[in-house]
Amino acid sequence: MLVKIKRSWELPDRAATPESLYLSRRQVSKSIAAGSILAAAGPILSACSEEQSQAEAANSGIPEEIANHQSGANAYYPAPRNSAYTMDRDLTPEDLATSYNNFYEFGTHKQISRAAQALQSDPWSIEIGGMVESPKRIGFDDLMRQVNLEERLYRHRCVEAWSMAVPWSGFPLARLVELAAPLSGAKYLRFETLHDPSTMTGQQAGFYEWPYVEGLTMAEATHELSFIATGLYGKPIPKQNGAPLRLVVPWKYGFKAIKSIVRITFTDERPVTFWQSSGPREYGFWANVNPEVAHRRWSQAQEEPLGLGHRVPTLLFNGYAGEIGDLYAGLEHEPLYM
Ligand code: MTE
Repeated sequence: MLVKIKRSWELPDRAATPESLYLSRRQVSKSIAAGSILAAAGPILSACSEEQSQAEAANSGIPEEIANHQSGANAYYPAPRNSAYTMDRDLTPEDLATSYNNFYEFGTHKQISRAAQALQSDPWSIEIGGMVESPKRIGFDDLMRQVNLEERLYRHRCVEAWSMAVPWSGFPLARLVELAAPLSGAKYLRFETLHDPSTMTGQQAGFYEWPYVEGLTMAEATHELSFIATGLYGKPIPKQNGAPLRLVVPWKYGFKAIKSIVRITFTDERPVTFWQSSGPREYGFWANVNPEVAHRRWSQAQEEPLGLGHRVPTLLFNGYAGEIGDLYAGLEHEPLYM
């Protein structure tokens, strides 16, 4: 992102799991779960038992408390998979998706998973305000009781040109909008991450304007793909990935996917986002994935899926152009791809 001049998607050798190791581990669990190697060719990550998951975390070298931080919340997982959201590529190894992260509140490098354990994600509540019928604060557990959890396989494309394919658990953002009961004049949602410089020590850096802020239009927020993730790989979402809840908008660059949300404000003014205020020449409000529109400092034509070892072509709207349809009709004059 802004402060990274070197190619920041490059994985350091120590972070990469040899694919052969990953595959053999998955093949064993798959064949146990599905009864045959062939039948197990589809992903079964959400079907892992807790013992399997913990054994895998132990094998991966990721400490158990990092891989599986909220044991009390495990009752919600695994959530049933929504088969409408399938995947055209292998899922990213869990140990990579949970150890190669962007969470600037804990540092500007990728290995923040240990530091992120300082986040107090339980108890947690979200403040809903602005242009709504009645502003309120919802406790995380209370919210979980009012939604139906499901699992979706989504592509996730960072603006830095690395990508993942992961099983998120959570619920449609449209459900949260419904619970918030916005007024008819509301046009945007403004999301905020927790601001707590004593534990999120990256927030002590004066260069950025904290807290992390993101925004969506009402049409984007109520689109069927927009998702609030509370889980990952059939378990509560790890702190480094944005516990206890984060946004997932898979047709946009990953920086839109704000983590550890504490506030959602409905407004008629377009929010100025964290990356817009930090680097207005490079980052905009819309941030839709487009291989033909280069970042000011690098091409977006290709990406490197974590763990794959080579690049693949990037797809318009990250492969979700069919679902996006005419969402941006009439907005062609806007900088939709930054
Ligand atoms: N949310 C907050 N609060 N802080 C961040 O630094 N980074 C963003 C996004 N959400 C970020 C954030 C970026 S740049 C990306 S690519 C994704 O989180 C990374 O999500 P992951 O670490 O789960 O892969």
